[in-house]
Amino acid sequence: MSAATPSALLDQFRQAGQGQVFAFWERLSPAEQTELAAEAREVDLAEVARLTRTLLGSSGAGGPDLADLEPAPFVPRPESGGDAGAWARARAAGEAALRAGQVAAFTVAGGQGTRLGYDGPKGTFGVTPVRGKPLFQVFAEKILAAGQRHGRPLHWFVMTSHANHAATEAFFAERRWFGLDRARVHFFRQGRMPAVDFAGRILLETPGRLALSPDGHGGSLRALARSGALDLMAAEGVDTLSYFQVDNPLVRCVDPAFIGWHRLRGSEMSSKMVPKAYPGEKVGHFCRQRGRDVVIEYSDLPAERQQEVDASGRLRFLAGNVAIHLLDREFIRRMAGAGASPETALPFHRADKKIPTVDAAGAPVRPERPNGVKFELFVFDALPFARQPVVIEASRADEFSPVKNATGVDSPETCRQDQLRQYARWLRAAGVTVPADATGLPAFPFEVSPRFGDDEASFAASWSARGPQSPLAAGDCLD
Ligand code: UD1
Repeated sequence: MSAATPSALLDQFRQAGQGQVFAFWERLSPAEQTELAAEAREVDLAEVARLTRTLLGSSGAGGPDLADLEPAPFVPRPESGGDAGAWARARAAGEAALRAGQVAAFTVAGGQGTRLGYDGPKGTFGVTPVRGKPLFQVFAEKILAAGQRHGRPLHWFVMTSHANHAATEAFFAERRWFGLDRARVHFFRQGRMPAVDFAGRILLETPGRLALSPDGHGGSLRALARSGALDLMAAEGVDTLSYFQVDNPLVRCVDPAFIGWHRLRGSEMSSKMVPKAYPGEKVGHFCRQRGRDVVIEYSDLPAERQQEVDASGRLRFLAGNVAIHLLDREFIRRMAGAGASPETALPFHRADKKIPTVDAAGAPVRPERPNGVKFELFVFDALPFARQPVVIEASRADEFSPVKNATGVDSPETCRQDQLRQYARWLRAAGVTVPADATGLPAFPFEVSPRFGDDEASFAASWSARGPQSPLAAGDCLD
């Protein structure tokens, strides 16, 4: 960010063909001018020019390279024929890393959550079946439990956006950091990118503000570096970051077996997959292309390829991305410092959007069809740059039920039901009969706090320690 004076800034923008940003400068109050100048200083004009050339040019809308695409190999779970001994060794290695304090949790929570239609940071959305605990609390309790189990409290990094940073911090403060040591909960904001029209001109949202939006979850890599999070990790002896999205309360925030596979294989970036539930499921696909692992989004892989089956009738592109990764600290540093070369750095993606803006007179324009482009980075684009990437299979029922839409698939209702089914499975494994329908959904709602149990084994231990009790009833909470 340069500290150019407003007039120097104006010159820089004019020379870059972006003088329209200051079209209403004379009309703005001194405070508005200061604000606009600060936003303009955030913009990397060379980057915008490069993206206009590469993504808005005639070749830009073509999507990713789909040549030579094959399914990526993955490590199957023991239930799907994987090597149980190797999984046990991985688990032991992961537990040792957690005991040694080498792992931190990381939530990307900078998204705008538009599909859910919830007004507020998505992590504050209530999801559990009885208490309606917010997503952030579910993660906090899991992180607390894992720290206690391994005798080493964890650091937790939370990436916010400009729009939700203050509200997120205030939410944690009001709720006393959910019992975590506040010195170990770290918030930082992701970067922003200006939206441009189809000719590459930066759009104004109002006469005194740029149309800026979060730079995508891939922006987390540079934000981790810029915010000092990587240096803090280094000072604390943390070398593995456990990355997950804010929308999935079933996630194992730090999973020993996953951590073990990552570390024993010397991987710089590891990922979890679940077999796709049906060909058109809206998840990314783990693929291998010319020797490197890549993720191809659901929107980019043609429907006929999504339906391809192998000799046994199984989907070929089976491995769905659940957006749970482990990242090596120095790998993040390398990616964050990689500059702009497509040979070394994450590529930007373009998304054509309806972007509220102003007309030549400064009056608001609410477009009815896309009028411009937003640029976003995706974290999974780091995969082809990682040494020894590992993809392991996860259990969908136990680890993936995101809240994305207000109704229908991946909604609060489906997520609530998946939590209840999970509790019921844990109870059954502990020898308790739970009345349930054919899908395993219990006949009445109840809740298990992650502090009581966050997997079958920890649940079983708490359950047997609890001793004989009256049968579980609707609305009960095991805390
Ligand atoms: C994402 C993945 C998809 C995966 C699916 C699993 C992409 C493009 N696709 O889809 O491969 O199968 O999740 O659930 O990501 N976020 C930020 N900052 C941003 C943008 C997003 O922090 O600028 C965070 C959000 O808060 C959220 C996560 O990233 O936690 C996912 O974002 P979202 O746009 O909802 O991804 P999906 O399209 O659902």
